[in-house]
Amino acid sequence: MDFKTIVITGASSGIGEALARALAAPGRTLALLGRNIERLEAVAAACRAKGATCRVASVDQTDTARLSAILEEVGRETAIDLLIANAGILDGRSVDETVESGSAARRVLETNLLATVDLVHLVLPAMRRNGCGSIALVASLASLVPLPDAPAYSASKAGLLSYGLALRDAVAAEGIRVVVACPGFVATAMADKHLGPRPGEISAEDAAERIITGLKRNRAMIGFPFVPFWLSRLSLLVPEGIRRRGMRNTRFHVGR
Ligand SMILES: NC(=O)c1ccc[n+]([C@@H]2O[C@H](COP(=O)([O-])OP(=O)(O)OC[C@H]3O[C@@H](n4cnc5c(N)ncnc54)[C@H](OP(=O)(O)O)[C@@H]3O)[C@@H](O)[C@H]2O)c1
Repeated sequence: MDFKTIVITGASSGIGEALARALAAPGRTLALLGRNIERLEAVAAACRAKGATCRVASVDQTDTARLSAILEEVGRETAIDLLIANAGILDGRSVDETVESGSAARRVLETNLLATVDLVHLVLPAMRRNGCGSIALVASLASLVPLPDAPAYSASKAGLLSYGLALRDAVAAEGIRVVVACPGFVATAMADKHLGPRPGEISAEDAAERIITGLKRNRAMIGFPFVPFWLSRLSLLVPEGIRRRGMRNTRFHVGR
């Protein structure tokens, strides 16, 4: 399956930037979204150098009205055939907290989960009319392994995984593909905020390549690296006390 018009959120850095660079090719149009316009322009310049047509837009993804206007403009020229909903934030407890604040928790859930669901609904009607299209949601291994140091982040990603797998079944018969990526640790600006052990960390380029391969194979869940992904899945089957003991050495706090 080839993708001609691709929207990537969170394209200004990390995994989103690496996805944009990897997908940039002649004949492709990339719409790169994020808040930092200078970084988006730099990514777009690199993608144009590889032959892609690029447009950039600065938008906070919780601003659904603005996001809607941007996507309408992108979709007016050619149908969006791939949405990569990648933008997200990590927050959790800081070094002197036991648990994150209520406002931090709400911000994480609004950005990572609710705004992503809104985003999906902005592209879904046209995909359903056209009877084709792909959506990739970037969740996390935290969707399988609740992190005591970042409860809202864990919930946002678990919600995204559940939402994506459910949506996949709901729209498959209409020709729309939905996949959920569950990366482990990836060396990005977000990872720099995670102050604690990050076993098995891979580069953003490696993560992007694995997501693109999974997308092309239409894999429901694109989990990686292999061992942490399967340990995370299996951890849901063991008694809760054993699972928690296994998590003892993974504690962290969030840097501000
Ligand atoms: N790094 C990891 O270890 C890891 C592991 C598992 C899953 N993930 C997931 O991978 C995705 C990408 O993260 P990353 O590691 O590449 O981190 P990153 O380098 O910090 O990138 C996050 C991206 O999201 C954008 N973003 C954040 N809040 C936004 C908002 N309110 N509106 C619009 N854009 C927003 C940022 O753009 P601006 O700064 O320009 O707004 C940036 O482009 C996230 O969903 C994250 O949860 C990461």
